[in-house]
Parts: sequence; structure tokens; C-alpha cells
Amino acid sequence: MARRKKIYEGKAKILYEGPEPGTFVQYFKDDATAFNAEKKATIDGKGVLNNRLSEFFMKGLTQIGIPNHFLKRLNMREQLIRQVEIIPLEVIVRNFAAGSMSTRLGLSEGTALPRPIVEFCLKDDKLGDPLVSEEHIIAFGWASQQDLDDMVALALRVNDFMSGVMLAVGIKLVDFKIEIGRVWDNDFQRLIVADEISPDSCRLWDVETGQKLDKDVFRRDLGSLTDAYTEVARRLGVLPSNVTHATKPTLIN
Ligand SMILES: Nc1ncnc2c1ncn2[C@@H]1O[C@H](COP(=O)(O)OP(=O)(O)OP(=O)(O)O)[C@@H](O)[C@H]1O
Ligand SMILES: [Mg+2]
Repeated sequence: MARRKKIYEGKAKILYEGPEPGTFVQYFKDDATAFNAEKKATIDGKGVLNNRLSEFFMKGLTQIGIPNHFLKRLNMREQLIRQVEIIPLEVIVRNFAAGSMSTRLGLSEGTALPRPIVEFCLKDDKLGDPLVSEEHIIAFGWASQQDLDDMVALALRVNDFMSGVMLAVGIKLVDFKIEIGRVWDNDFQRLIVADEISPDSCRLWDVETGQKLDKDVFRRDLGSLTDAYTEVARRLGVLPSNVTHATKPTLIN
């Protein structure tokens, strides 16, 4: 078989040239990074779970008419996606204070926000993905005013969908991040949701216990990340039949 052309290797995923022009194959790695890649580890089974979970969320978005890059899952670790021109911004939606917002504004984690708050960070690892304002985005030409309005509308729709889906399985959607890209249909440009939606890019807390079921488990050394992601997948009914992660025997003293 001919070797595939690698387009880009990031911290969590690899993009390969797809079978048709305008498509990519997105491969989900087991690598986890936090704090701008200062903390790194390989976590058995994470890629398999995120491939399934991102498929599940993107398909749900499609069902309610929110455009996104997902075309088809290919295997345990890969999905076929539509190639987009990524807008160099992380779009964050917050329902409750946590993480950098809590630090910045001195709000205790879990404080309910008066309404969902949309933030933008510039995608630039060297600068540590700094928070930027709409003024910056327009002035530096990262997106137009129309793009910005569309991005906020898209992000809030994703928030409503994700909040509902998660609440139905007893999980609170505290916040999440998405990436958005441009596609052209003939002469018309549209914005669609790209990258991934998974517990790597969301904060998910158990409604009853407050237990964290997202990447904070890795960032803050709170236990097994695979167990947390497996729990999310189990509740949503999307566990792959043969997860590569197997519980290792534990020595009892
Ligand atoms: N549909 C798409 N078309 C083109 N690029 C995409 C698409 N979906 C995601 N990407 C890009 O593919 C890469 C995915 O890799 P990964 O998430 O591992 O990157 P990363 O290490 O987070 O780095 P960065 O996001 O800063 O480039 C990201 O750069 C993301 O912006
Ligand atoms: Mg990424």
C-alpha cells in the first residue's frame, strides 16, 4: 500500500491526505499534553475513545443542522474529515467558572456564570494561546466581523447541544473549546466546526459528585484519565466493543 502523505502532526492528532481532494484523515494519538506541552504522557486508549466521542458529538451536531467537518469514521483511531482553513482562534464557551477564568477573575471553580460567556484565544503555542478581544481579532485580520458573529452563534449552538446531551447522562458541561474553519461551496464561504469535540477539549463534571471526567484528571493528577473518558463514553453508549485499554493487574500489599 502506498504510504500516505502526512499533512501535519500536532500534540494529540495527525492529519493525513484523504482519499478525495478536500478531505483529510484525522488520526487520534494516545499522547496527552497540558500547560502548553510542559506536561506530557502517553495514555493507553485515549485516542480510541476520543475518535469515538468526537464522532458521536459531531454526528449529533449534524443531526440538528450544525455544520461540521466529520464525514465518516474509518477505524478505531481514524476518521475522514472535510479539509477546512482553520481560523487561528480557539473559541471557548463557559457556563461555570473554572481554569484560567477562575484564576484571572478570582472566581471559585464551579461558580455559575450569569450567561454563557464566549472567549477567544489566539492559536499560538509560542505565546501560550493568549486571550484576545474582538478588537484584536478585527484589527489584526484573524477574522472579519461577519466571521466573528457567525463564530459566536455557532459556538452558542454547540453549547446548547452539548449541555443537553451531557446533562441527560448526569454530566455538567462546565466549559469547552472548539476550532472553526472556512469552507467554500462554489463562491460562498461558510464556517463549520472542525478539529475535535472530546473530553480533551471540554470540562465535564459529574452532576451528583462533582467528579471530574475530563483532561483536568491528567492536568491535576486526579487518577486515571482512561477511566474518566471510558466513563463518559459508557454513559453516552458509545464505548467501542474492543477498547484497547485493559485494566492491568494491581499488586495488593
Ligand atoms: N478539518 C480540518 N481541516 C484542517 N485542519 C484541521 C481540521 N481539523 C483540525 N485541524 C487542525 O489539525 C491539527 C490537529 O492536531 P492537534 O490537535 O494535535 O494539534 P495541536 O498540537 O493542538 O496544535 P495546534 O492546534 O496548535 O496546531 C490542529 O492544528 C487543528 O487546527
Ligand atoms: Mg489541538
